[in-house]
Amino acid sequence: MTLKPTKPFRIGYVEMDNRVVLAPMAGISNSAFRLTVKEFGAGLVYAEMISDKGIVQQNEKTLSMLYIDERENPLSLQIFGGEKETLVAAAKYVDQNTTADIIDINMGCPVNKIIKCEAGARWLLDPNKIYEMVSAVVDNVTKPVTVKMRIGWDEKNILAVENAQAIERAGGAAVAVHGRTREQMYEGYANWDIIRDVKQAVSIPVIGNGDVESPQDAKRMLDETGVDGVMIGRAALGDPWMIYRTVEYLESGDLKPEPSVREKIDVCLLHFERLAQLKGEKVAVREMRKHASWYLKGIRGNGTARTIINQIEDANELKVYLNQFAEERMASREEVVSV
Ligand SMILES: Cc1cc2nc3c(=O)[nH]c(=O)nc-3n(C[C@H](O)[C@H](O)[C@H](O)COP(=O)(O)O)c2cc1C
Repeated sequence: MTLKPTKPFRIGYVEMDNRVVLAPMAGISNSAFRLTVKEFGAGLVYAEMISDKGIVQQNEKTLSMLYIDERENPLSLQIFGGEKETLVAAAKYVDQNTTADIIDINMGCPVNKIIKCEAGARWLLDPNKIYEMVSAVVDNVTKPVTVKMRIGWDEKNILAVENAQAIERAGGAAVAVHGRTREQMYEGYANWDIIRDVKQAVSIPVIGNGDVESPQDAKRMLDETGVDGVMIGRAALGDPWMIYRTVEYLESGDLKPEPSVREKIDVCLLHFERLAQLKGEKVAVREMRKHASWYLKGIRGNGTARTIINQIEDANELKVYLNQFAEERMASREEVVSV
């Protein structure tokens, strides 16, 4: 029996309320960040990449990364690895021991440390390996299996279509495509034409990714490439409103206003509270430094604020400072300056 879709898009049996997807970002997309973004309406959130070996060896820190708050679902949990045995074992563990809805395999990470382990973007040169690895995972789990990949290794080796077809043949339930090559790292532009080629070449859902910086970009990506979902990464850093504004724009064509300084700081504080619960105050204060600088982007005085925040070690001090910063800006009736 084929199920009639009732929601905008579906991966296997998992239905999404909308087409807006939060990208996996290592060191960022933990439960505290994901939940905060989820509350702004993301249709699907991806967790940061997690090492297959770390899971298999039951490394304490790795296992703590598997934590999922029940309010986050639907959620895709991404694993990476270069060997079939450990990848399958890790996928089975995620399948049986977590509330993730989808298991995603990382095939896009460009950094040398990961490539050296034959993982991440390494596979992009070999559709046969992709087929073998994805089939092995699919055969051993019950949750839908997806892949997030880059378009190719370098300009001369763009096998996006062949690779996506291999994923589909192997039983992959969807593919997310970042329109850059491994060689590009995060430079240059994402090539949306190749994302469109992939969409036309497979019948599983395709999620487009790369350089979506505004709600209008998201609509343009959906219109120009025909993808089923649009994935947003860097534009959501310190700006979960980007997700909400995109969802609203895609649904109604309305462009909602940017948040006020107070709203930004309030969400920053909520994010911090969740991070402190997840990792303890000491770690959270440090990790929050980068987030705070993203939340404060475009607000007058953010440079000085960043310097002060980078020296704060105490949770209470950080909260007091952020509140004081917001009060000062609001007292002078300053809204967020667009950058
Ligand atoms: C800090 C950072 C960490 C990332 N970590 C991951 C990761 O763990 N797994 C992954 O598949 N992609 C990762 N990516 C890539 C993003 O998911 C996304 O593909 C890329 O940023 C392009 O999308 P954007 O232009 O919307 O940012 C990361 C990107 C950044 C900036």
